[in-house]
Amino acid sequence: MTTADTRKITFLKSLKFSDMKLSQCEEVHNLILDAAESKNMGVTPEGRQAFERYISTAAIENRARMGCKFELAMIDGQIVGVIETRKADCISMLYVRLAYARLGIGSRLVYRVASGCAARGFKKLTTYVADEEIGFYERVGFTQCGDRGETLGISSTPYKLSMSQRDRKPPSKLLSTSVELFVFSGTGNTLLIASEICGALKSKGKDVRLHDMNAKAGEILTKLDDDTAIGLAFPVACFSTYPSVWRFIESMPFGYGREIFILSTCGGFAGGMQGPLGEILSKKGYRLLSAKFFVMPGNYGNKTIPAEKNAHRLEKAISDARAFVSDMLAGKASWGSHPRLARFTHWLAQTRAPWNFFYRMFPILTDKTKCTRCSICSDICPAHAIDKDEDGYPVVKSHVCESCQRCVGFCPVSALGNPKKPAAQYRAMSYEKFKITDE
Ligand SMILES: Cc1cc2nc3c(=O)[nH]c(=O)nc-3n(C[C@H](O)[C@H](O)[C@H](O)COP(=O)(O)O)c2cc1C
Ligand code: SF4
Ligand code: SF4
Repeated sequence: MTTADTRKITFLKSLKFSDMKLSQCEEVHNLILDAAESKNMGVTPEGRQAFERYISTAAIENRARMGCKFELAMIDGQIVGVIETRKADCISMLYVRLAYARLGIGSRLVYRVASGCAARGFKKLTTYVADEEIGFYERVGFTQCGDRGETLGISSTPYKLSMSQRDRKPPSKLLSTSVELFVFSGTGNTLLIASEICGALKSKGKDVRLHDMNAKAGEILTKLDDDTAIGLAFPVACFSTYPSVWRFIESMPFGYGREIFILSTCGGFAGGMQGPLGEILSKKGYRLLSAKFFVMPGNYGNKTIPAEKNAHRLEKAISDARAFVSDMLAGKASWGSHPRLARFTHWLAQTRAPWNFFYRMFPILTDKTKCTRCSICSDICPAHAIDKDEDGYPVVKSHVCESCQRCVGFCPVSALGNPKKPAAQYRAMSYEKFKITDE
C-alpha cells in the first residue's frame, strides 16, 4: 500500500455525515473560502462579488432557514465537506476542504444526495457546473444537459445525473475502505466465490469481513460506519433468489448512498434478476457498484457428478472472481442491463409458486435405513423447514422449504433426497469447511 493509501484509510475511518445545524454556518463559510481559494473560478469581478455574497455566513443561514439542505462530511469533529441541495433534486454547491481533496469525500456527498433523490422518486439530480469541476461531475456519472451560460458573471454548464438504472452509466469504482460481505449459500458454491473475492479484496488493502446472511447479520447492518461498502453474495434460484435472501434484503436499512455490489452464482442463466434487485436497492438509498454472476457446478438433480466439467467451471469462476475485484477497484465493473422478463420472474419468486413447484419436482425425503438422526440437516436449514418425527427422523415441511439443497448436500450419510429419482450428492466443500465467516 502507498503512503497516500494509508493516509486515505486513516482519514476515512473517522468520516461521518450529518445535517448542518444553524450554529455551523460560519464554519461552513470558512470551509468554502478554504476550498475555493486554489480554484480559478473563471469569474469576472462582478461574478466574484456574487459568489462572495452567495457563500457569506448570513446567506448560508438564510438559505438553510428557507429549506435548502446542507449536508456535512466530518472528520474528527471538523467539517471537511459540504453539499447544498434545493428541493432534493438540485445541487447548488459542493466543497471539500483542500487538505482532504481527492479522498472521495465529494463523490460520497454526491451519492448521499443522489440516494435521497432516487428514494423520493425524482427522475434526475441536476446541477450547474463550473468549467474546472466538469471532470469531477462526469466521473461521478453526470452528463451535460444544456449549453454553457453565464449568470451574474459566473459561467457554468447544466449537468444531470439520471436516477433511472437503465439510463445511468454508473461510476462503479469501490471507494470504501471496508467491506461487509453477507453470504447465503446452499451447497457451498457461493461461499467458495465469496471467500475468493474476500481474499482478493484483502490483498488490495480492503478491510473485509464475511457474514452469514441471517437475522443476526441484520443487526450488523445497523451499526456500520460511513466508510463501509456492502457486498451481497447469493445463488440464483428460479431466475431470482431464495426467499431467505429477499427477506434479508427487505430488512436492510436505508443506505444513504452506501456502496453495494452483488456476486451471485448460478448454473448458467440468472434471468436478469439484478434489474429488479437494483431498483429495490436504489430505492433503499444504496449506490449500485456492480453485479457479477459466476457459472458454477449444478447442485441438484445430477445423475452423476461431472467432475471434469465442474473442475473447469470452478477454475474459470475463480479467475473471473479475481478479475471482478480488479475491475471493481478500477471502476470498470457495472451492474449490467436486464430483460423485461426479469420483473415477472422477480414477482413470481415473491410467491410460493416456484418453490412449491421445485419441491414437487425434487422432494426431500429421509432414507431411514441410512439416517443416523444426527440433526445436522435441521441445524443448518436456513428456513427452519425441518421437523422431527416421533422417532427423531427429519421431516421436511414442503410448504416452508426453499429447496436450497443444503440439507441434501451436507447430510453425512446421503440420506436425503427422492428415492424415486436418485441423484448424486453435491456439495462444493466438506461440512467442516462450510462456515460462513472469515475467521
Ligand atoms: C432451487 C434451485 C433453483 C435454481 N435455479 C437456477 C436458475 O434459475 N438459474 C441458474 O442458472 N441456476 C439455478 N440453480 C443453480 C444454482 O444457482 C447454482 O448451482 C449455485 O451455484 C448454487 O450455489 P450454492 O451452492 O451457494 O447454493 C438453481 C439451484 C437450485 C437448488
Ligand atoms: S443430516 Fe442426514 S443423517 Fe443427519 S439427521 Fe439429517 S438426514 Fe439424518
Ligand atoms: S429443508 Fe433443506 S432444502 Fe429445504 S430450505 Fe431447509 S436446508 Fe434448504
